Amino acid sequence: MNEQDAVLLEVSGLTVRYGDLQAVSDAGLRVCRGAVVSLIGANGAGKSTLLNAIMGVNKPAGGSVRWKGEDITGLPTNKIVAKGISLTPEGSRIFEDMTVLENLLLGAYLPRAKKKRAESLEKVFDTFPVLKEKTNQLATFLSGGQRQMLAIARAIMSAPELIICDEISLGLAPVVIRDIYASLHRINQEGVSILLVEQEVKRCLKNTEYAYVMVKGRVVMEGRCLDLPEDEVCDAYFGINRYA
Ligand SMILES: Nc1ncnc2c1ncn2[C@@H]1O[C@H](COP(=O)(O)OP(=O)(O)OP(=O)(O)O)[C@@H](O)[C@H]1O
Ligand SMILES: [Mg+2]
Repeated sequence: MNEQDAVLLEVSGLTVRYGDLQAVSDAGLRVCRGAVVSLIGANGAGKSTLLNAIMGVNKPAGGSVRWKGEDITGLPTNKIVAKGISLTPEGSRIFEDMTVLENLLLGAYLPRAKKKRAESLEKVFDTFPVLKEKTNQLATFLSGGQRQMLAIARAIMSAPELIICDEISLGLAPVVIRDIYASLHRINQEGVSILLVEQEVKRCLKNTEYAYVMVKGRVVMEGRCLDLPEDEVCDAYFGINRYA
C-alpha cells in the first residue's frame, strides 16, 4: 500500500463562514487508514465547525474534503455516512425518549449498515457491556458516561471505516474517560480509524498518534504526538507567542 492509498480522509484549504465570521480558515488535515488522529483546540477554535463541514452539515466557502481520493465536499450527510464516515457529535445528542436499542438501531438505518446490523450489535455490546444490560431502558436514564458510550456505539452501528468523535470526554469523571478511551482503542484495533476532537492537550498526546492544533480557525501546528513537545502545543493552544 503506498502512502496515497493509505489516506482515508483529506481536508485541504477548508474555509467555513457564519455570515461575517470566518470560523475555519484554510484548514487541512489527513487521517490515514488505521490511524488515531486528534484535533486539539480551545473553546471556539473552530473544531466542531470543521467536523460539521466534513460531514456535510456546514457548507464550506472554500477548500475540499476528499474520502479515499474522491471529492465529497458538501455532499448530503447521509451520503457521507454511507461512504463510511460517522460522527459522534458534541454533547452526544442521543434520543432521550427512545430505548438504548432503538438509539442503536437508528445508527444502522442505511442499507449497507442494515445488512450488518446483527454483527454490529454484537460488536457494540462486546465493547460496551453496560449497554447490553440497559438495552430496553430509555436513554434519558443513562449516566453521562453511558450516554457517550451510546453515542459512540450508535456511530459504530453504521459500520464506519472512520469515526469522528467531538469532545467525548467533556464533563466526565477521569475514571469514565479512561474507560471510554480504552474502548476507542479496542474499536481502533478492530480496524476503525478515529479522528478525535479534544480540549485536553495531555490526553490527546497520550492517546493518539498524530495531532493537529487549531487556533482561531487555523491549523497552526501538526505532528506525531511523540515528537510534539507538550509545552509548545500548550503555547499554540492558548494563542501564545507566534501562534496568536
Ligand atoms: N451556528 C453558528 N452561527 C454563528 N457562529 C457560530 C455557529 N457555530 C459556531 N459559531 C462560532 O464559530 C466559532 C467556532 O465555533 P466552534 O463551535 O466550531 O468551535 P469549537 O472549537 O468546536 O469550540 P468548543 O470547544 O467550544 O466546542 C466560534 O466563534 C463560535 O462562536
Ligand atoms: Mg465544539
